[in-house]
Amino acid sequence: MIIDGKKIAQEILLYLKDEVQKLDTKPTIAVIIVGQNPSSKIYVNLKQKKAIELGMNSIVIEMQKDTTQKELEDKIDELNQNPEINAILVQLPLPKHLDTYKIIEKIDPIKDVDGFHPQNVGRLSIGLEPYSTSCTPKGVIRLLDAYNIDIESKNIVIIGRSNIVGKPLASMLLARNATVTVAHSKTLNIRAITQRADIVIAAVGSAHLIDSDWIKDKAVVIDVGISKSPEGKLLGDVDFESVKDKASYITPVPGGVGPMTIAMLLENTLHLYNLQKEQK
Ligand code: GUN
Repeated sequence: MIIDGKKIAQEILLYLKDEVQKLDTKPTIAVIIVGQNPSSKIYVNLKQKKAIELGMNSIVIEMQKDTTQKELEDKIDELNQNPEINAILVQLPLPKHLDTYKIIEKIDPIKDVDGFHPQNVGRLSIGLEPYSTSCTPKGVIRLLDAYNIDIESKNIVIIGRSNIVGKPLASMLLARNATVTVAHSKTLNIRAITQRADIVIAAVGSAHLIDSDWIKDKAVVIDVGISKSPEGKLLGDVDFESVKDKASYITPVPGGVGPMTIAMLLENTLHLYNLQKEQK
């Protein structure tokens, strides 16, 4: 069965739009983009378009690629202090001369819409509720729930250990009582590990790495990877054609996890807005 991320995301966006309409002010997200990374620009434009469709405000702050650490930190400070800004997102990757971790730490945790701040990551990992959690892993779990796929006690193998996807996803699945294995580029014989998994979640960014040999019969396969073919076609980490008849559930690329990430971002924006309102 193909997991329709586009449809589930659309349902969430419709719900959010309804919720936003009930508010007396508009939740506002500020997105900072440094330099001209073409993929980043596409993502940022899409985020802005969707935010506006929901009736939120979206501010995009474009900074030059030679922006200094101090200039960027000052900009974040300004947004932290502005009560009209509810959510701050610094689009990654940043140019190499900037210290990404220091930048993330500068964001007020209650405005950290990506859930990347160490306070939010730390709270997630010890089982306390963070202000927000990373959007892509949150979207993956929402998809599993939407299709009533059990998480508790399942053997789940995540391929990829990034701070954006693999690690927070492992924390979230542990909190839901899964048995979680995180495989990565130094893991030996990954296939022997994925072949035992009830659920395989691929977040590597290596086109069509995973074929049917990697997968147990009737396993659930979630594809977070995105890469581009030389012709510009979007490719997942999973060879969909090879795996689709063996898996019980599978996400396509595009139209699987991708649309969920944006839905979760806007859900986080509304959540932070509500939290900030409660604090006033
Ligand atoms: N670059 C790729 N994914 C993400 C994300 O989820 N958030 C941010 N800020 N940058 C990204």
